[in-house]
Order: sequence, then structure tokens, then C-alpha cells
Amino acid sequence: MTEDLRQAARECLIRYGGDSFDTLFVTAKGAHVTDDEGREILDFTSGQMCATVGHGHPAVVAAIEKSARTAIHMFSGMIPDVVAELGRRLADWVPRPLKRSLFVNTGSESNEAALRIAKLCTGGYEVAAMGGSWHGVTGAASTVSYASDRRGYGPGMPGVFPIPEPNAYRCPIEHCRDGCDMTCLRVGLRQFDMHSAGAPAAVIAEPVISAGGIIVPPEGYFERLKAACAERGMMLIFDEAQTAFGRLGHRTAAEQVGVTPDIMSVSKTLGGGVPLAATVTSDAIEEKAHERGFSYYTSHVSDPLPAAVGLAVLDTIERESLMARAVEMGGYLRHRLEGLQQRYEAIGDIRGRGLLLGVELVKDRESREPHHTLGAVTTARCFELGLSMNIRRRPERGSVWRIAPPLTVTREEIDQGVEILDRALNESLDELARP
Ligand SMILES: Cc1ncc(COP(=O)(O)O)c(C=O)c1O
Repeated sequence: MTEDLRQAARECLIRYGGDSFDTLFVTAKGAHVTDDEGREILDFTSGQMCATVGHGHPAVVAAIEKSARTAIHMFSGMIPDVVAELGRRLADWVPRPLKRSLFVNTGSESNEAALRIAKLCTGGYEVAAMGGSWHGVTGAASTVSYASDRRGYGPGMPGVFPIPEPNAYRCPIEHCRDGCDMTCLRVGLRQFDMHSAGAPAAVIAEPVISAGGIIVPPEGYFERLKAACAERGMMLIFDEAQTAFGRLGHRTAAEQVGVTPDIMSVSKTLGGGVPLAATVTSDAIEEKAHERGFSYYTSHVSDPLPAAVGLAVLDTIERESLMARAVEMGGYLRHRLEGLQQRYEAIGDIRGRGLLLGVELVKDRESREPHHTLGAVTTARCFELGLSMNIRRRPERGSVWRIAPPLTVTREEIDQGVEILDRALNESLDELARP
């Protein structure tokens, strides 16, 4: 049966990129997944960065079971009671004046909706996005993404412009080293103004640029960005797909950096593993969008089942104090990774916040030449040894492991993961040193 299904996967599925594994996967529980050989693998990516409360959390399971008995799906024009409840709950989690939500399914969609609102309300269409960003694969979201494959799909949305990302370790404009002085932002905005056809709409940014290599902008960056948006009549959109709901130790990154965007999109970490996302904005912006005829009518907008799960996820984060846990476990994981950094020259940089950490691999610490081969070999070896980690490798940037276990991860699981990483690094460096 196992081989039969593996063959079905090889023959009947479209290959969509990303990692490919030889085995199929059967269960996901807590911080582990198991494959069709019964191997337990520690999941240091929380699935696709979604399962912050751990895979198959009992509260999530109970919400799905209850929803399956009450309502799974409804006509999109009907607002289920549980969606109204989640709207109110979410309004308590985001900083004011953010308050009103549109519930959709994926992060891409929440960004599509955010961009539509910004365009409708400003009357413009031009959007600036950070280098190294990832906002999704749908039309507009993919056009504002610079960490994904852009080639081969024809023209994207017109009017999109990249602002060089504030990467202090690998400055994209080759200006700073180790401390970003925000020249990248000044130059980027100046270039944007030069490029603009006079119809600016929005700037979209991840508060921690994740797929681009866990880049944490310097203090004061978002204040400046917000001021730059205001000067140009643009809306600031925060894409908090990965940063909202506890992973950084805060309700949202906006709360942490003290800057409230005009529109916030949230997704992965709200659904705990089921497809749930939201676009959140203020009364004033919602009113304006509504007056101008805003519509975003999909088959699964305002679906009850994911909303019930979203409520369970927010409850669980509070009940189990997972924000405090992200800080505690994130500190411990960072400390263990720094221990490895002292022993391996190849670990050039460790960065991130809470339980969203990045480890950048280099050939030597002086030149900082990216060590893409080591990244690939070690990631594969980690997997063989029972640890799943995601490496972000692109020719124009470094090789960076994105390490983001569920917030429920234990010290023992962190120790186990770091020991596997240690062994995998050791063996991979030996293998690459062989003639
Ligand atoms: C920051 C960010 N925004 C948006 C998305 C897109 O979300 P989805 O894959 O759910 O469409 C991702 C996905 O990785 C992401 O990391």
C-alpha cells in the first residue's frame, strides 16, 4: 500500500516546488510529524509556519468536531454567528484603530484584499514592497513578492516597486555592515518617487521579513516607513502572516514595534493549521471602502468552520500563556544555537525574535560568502536524522535556516533538535571537505 501511494504521488500530482521527500506523511501531532515508514520527525517549521499551538491541539480538534456538527460552510452572503464572534475577538487582539476584519482563507488572499482596499480608498495603484518579501502566489500578492520565483508567468500587476530590504548582515545596497542605518529605505523611497506615475496606493511589508531570511528591521524603521507613507498618501500594510498571535512573544508585531499600519493581514498563525486568514482595518478605511463599493466575495469568505478554529487558537494562546512561552523557549533555542555558532565558523549570523529565528550559513565569516551547498546537504542530513527544517536559499541572498517550532515546544525537544543539527553540521562539513 505504501509503495502504491508513493507511486500515485509521483504519477498523479503536480509538482509544485519546495522540498520533495521520498516518503509520504501520515500524522502530525504536537511538534512531530510521522511518515509512512513510521519515522517520527521533529517539526521545526510548525507545518508551513501555521501550527503555533502544535499540530492537532485538542482545542482545535474539538472546534472542528463541534463545527462539523453545527455548520461547516454557508452561502457567502450569510454571516455565521461564529464569524461575528471571531471578528470581535480579533478586534481585541489588534492595536486600535484596527478593528474590522474580512475572513478569508489564505495569506495570499488576505494580501489581495488588503491591496484592493488600499487601491480603492486611495484611488492609486502603485505599491512598494520590500526586497526579500513573500506575500503569496496569487496575482497581486505574487507581484509584490521578491523572495519567490517570478520568472515565467508573464506580467504581474503594474506599478509595483521594490524597496531594498534592511538586511544588516548582507546589505542589499552594499552600504552597511552589521548595523542598518536605513540608507536602503531612503534610497528606495527616492527611487520609488522617481518611478511613480503619480498614483501611489500602498507599501506592504512583513514586520520580520521571513522568507527573505528572517530579517529584523532596525529600531525606528517602521516609524519612518509609516511617515513616508503618510507623506505620499499611501497606506501601510503589515503582512503579519507569521508574526501575529504569539510567535514573537506579542499579540502582533505592530504592538511590538509600536507602529499601527492602516491595514493588517493575518493568516497562517490564526488558523492553527486550517485555512483561515483575515484582512483587518479601521472603521474609517472600512467605511470609505464600503462607500466605494468594496467587494471580495469568494466561495469560502466568512466560513464558519475555520472561524471556530480561529477562536480556539486565540483561546489556546491565552490559556496556555504561549506568548510568554515563545519568549522563554525562543531565548533558550537562541542560546543553544549560539553555542553551535561558537563551534562552527560556518554559522555566520543568528537573528530573529521570539520563536522565529534565522541561522545564516557562510563559507567564512569575513567574506560572508553564502554557503548554499552546506545548507542543502545539512538540511537533508537533518531530515534523515529526524529534524525538519526549512532552508531559504536564493542566489541573490544567503542560505538561512528558518527555525520556527510550535510555541508549545519543550526544552527537551529543543535539545533534541539542536543535537541533530550539531551532528548533521559536523557530518556535512566532513563530507564536503572530502576530496
Ligand atoms: C509573510 C507571508 N505572507 C503571505 C504568505 C502567503 O500565504 P499563503 O501561502 O497562505 O497564501 C506567506 C506564505 O508563506 C507568508 O510567509
